[in-house]
Amino acid sequence: MEKNKINVGIIGFGTVGTGAAKILLENSGVIKKRTGIDFVLKRIADLDIKRDRGIKIPQGVLTTDANAILNDPEIDIIVELMGGIRPAKDFMLNAIKNKKHVVTANKALLATEGNEIFGEAEKNGVEVGFEASVAGGIPIIKVLREGLVANNIIAVYGIINGTSNYILTKMTDEKVEFSDALKEAQRLGYAEADPTFDIEGIDTAHKLTILSSLAYGIPLSYNEVYKEGITKITAQDIEFASELGYKIKLLAITKLSNGAIEMRVHPTMIPNEYLISKVDGVFNAVYVEGDTVGSTLYYGRGAGDMPTGSAVVADIVDIGKNIAAGTVQSGLRMQDSGLRIKKMEDIESMYYFRFSAMDEPGVLSKISGILGNYNISIASVIQKGRRLGGSVPLVVLTHTAKERDVLSAVKEIDNLHIVSDKTIFIRVEGKEE
Ligand code: NAP
Ligand code: HSE
Repeated sequence: MEKNKINVGIIGFGTVGTGAAKILLENSGVIKKRTGIDFVLKRIADLDIKRDRGIKIPQGVLTTDANAILNDPEIDIIVELMGGIRPAKDFMLNAIKNKKHVVTANKALLATEGNEIFGEAEKNGVEVGFEASVAGGIPIIKVLREGLVANNIIAVYGIINGTSNYILTKMTDEKVEFSDALKEAQRLGYAEADPTFDIEGIDTAHKLTILSSLAYGIPLSYNEVYKEGITKITAQDIEFASELGYKIKLLAITKLSNGAIEMRVHPTMIPNEYLISKVDGVFNAVYVEGDTVGSTLYYGRGAGDMPTGSAVVADIVDIGKNIAAGTVQSGLRMQDSGLRIKKMEDIESMYYFRFSAMDEPGVLSKISGILGNYNISIASVIQKGRRLGGSVPLVVLTHTAKERDVLSAVKEIDNLHIVSDKTIFIRVEGKEE
């Protein structure tokens, strides 16, 4: 017999939990029209059920005991929105062993413990929905699993941390200090409980782990992602980048190059004319290139209660439809493609260098000589101002070079007595001139 009522229990009534609850309560009519199924928000668990969350929750729905949801035989789908690793992982595994389907936005948990969670889901014949774990309201998981299923994926480039993008945008457009922009992102509910995750590229790396796994059929491999955050980006570099025709964005990159997969997160200079460089504020965008579809770009809000809640509820509805139709699928069912992950030293890129060099004759030739010794070819140079006897920024853009060579060259240059501070380097995307 077809099931036309699905009971849902949410654990974690914070930013995303509130958004998901609001959508389930307020949009149940339109969802029923589209699916023929009643999605009922049966219980919500949170440690604090007294705080006003700005929505009216029916009597008897709120509880402080997550187990009251996990052990309720009438609940079909458990929605984990508390975040963190423990006890979230135990709750999810309990739910799965109780044959309940799970929906989560917890990219940290999936990136680090997801292989076990998806394995258990497959064994128990239940689904794990995780659309909300990457890029908030943008349905990028569905794009990779369904929309582009007929493609070999050539590359994925993403701005997938709303907090960092918000901070970089404020620093670029309003000349706001890093710390003030971060405080505002926290106030707006974009930042993780520990904002280090956002600004040090950890959250982006969690999300990239999930995207790489879907794009290339590899196990979730968070420990192999190269990560570098935005904390060392200065107003001066933003200004030089702008003068050269670039924006600085925290970019997540995964691509297939010479038979191996690159997985890296770092500030990147992107040419102003690229659409992705225009993605500002809390907005996210993911560029996916497939061998049959070509270039595609997906854009939307990457964080916040309602956009993320929208993705959570989309998963609930998908799973509900599968329950109704008697067809369940595990979250990440795929063969291991066996593709190797490339070491960061083996990647190739163009580079921006900002050397702190003494303002005296012969300095440029010393630095360019070392770059030349490591096969790093210069595309352009900027030196502004004069400070005889002092240091000035010397900015160099390169042609494509090997990361390994760049690291060696920078080490040698930083040891020169004519260099007063550590060299800043930023990887550059775009067409080689
Ligand atoms: P949040 O606002 O901190 O909400 C988490 C809620 O869970 C809090 O109310 C917390 O209560 C509650 N909680 C903690 N331990 C619990 C337990 N044992 N039982 C019941 N409730 C418990 O976090 P959030 O921003 O909504 O994020 C939730 C998840 O979504 C995280 O995995 C996050 O990475 C992910 N995510 C967030 C966004 C976003 O825009 N915020 C977007 C995408 C994905 P207390 O406050 O009392 O501790
Ligand atoms: N802290 C995350 C961000 C939330 O800023 O993008 C969405 O995953």
